[in-house]
Amino acid sequence: MRFIKTDDYEGMSKAAAAIVTEQIKTKPSSVLGLATGGTPVRMYELLIKAYEKGELDFSQISTVNLDEYKGITRDNEQSYFYYMNERLWKHTNIDPKRTHVPDGMVADAEAVCLAYEQTISDLGGIDLQILGIGHNGHIGFNEPGDVFEDRSFCVELSQATINANQRFFATADDVPKEAYTVGIGTIMSAAKIVVMISGEDKAAIVKEAFTGPVTPKVPASILRFHRDVTVIGDAAALGLLPE
Ligand code: GLP
Repeated sequence: MRFIKTDDYEGMSKAAAAIVTEQIKTKPSSVLGLATGGTPVRMYELLIKAYEKGELDFSQISTVNLDEYKGITRDNEQSYFYYMNERLWKHTNIDPKRTHVPDGMVADAEAVCLAYEQTISDLGGIDLQILGIGHNGHIGFNEPGDVFEDRSFCVELSQATINANQRFFATADDVPKEAYTVGIGTIMSAAKIVVMISGEDKAAIVKEAFTGPVTPKVPASILRFHRDVTVIGDAAALGLLPE
């Protein structure tokens, strides 16, 4: 596990964008595993800037998102599909047919999850997975629990996650209670992983995940068993890690 400590959010975003840029240039047909949330917003803006300057070509890139709320449509502003389209895809030359997000409107969870895993496998797996981390240590929507879920599944969101994501909705009641997420095994199968973390409010969980026991009670802790993980965090987020 490598750690890159930056001064601030902007530095973290630039460092992550540099890794994604390198990945796209090295392998123009890369499969990128993408994350939503507040953390990667600026990184996506930097990738769009690089595309606008002619430095990046997304035409052969495929993307696979980590997760999606269950029961909201793709044109709902809170859906992760909508987020990705607004914050990255529509500003680039990516082929919409190569962008993948679990379909939150299909009620048959088993069918959605099997299809999603099949999509990832048909693409040949994920070359570079971008991750954020929740305050409770979740990655994607793999919430703290008693086991590491292997492959994509339908998850009941924890109250902590509902509360954390309420900022994007009018009220906590509007936050969906369930979501589809790739599993821990799916994430761990990615060739490379970049974890982006910003802010003092993440410092405690960062310390727990990367220095405490590897346990499904802190899902991000499993990342220590992956052979190619780069954690990019600003000084505030990495502040409680030993030097
Ligand atoms: C969300 C998402 C995750 C994200 C995490 C952190 O609920 N499901 O994919 O990485 O929580 O979000 P943020 O970057 O807003 O702190």
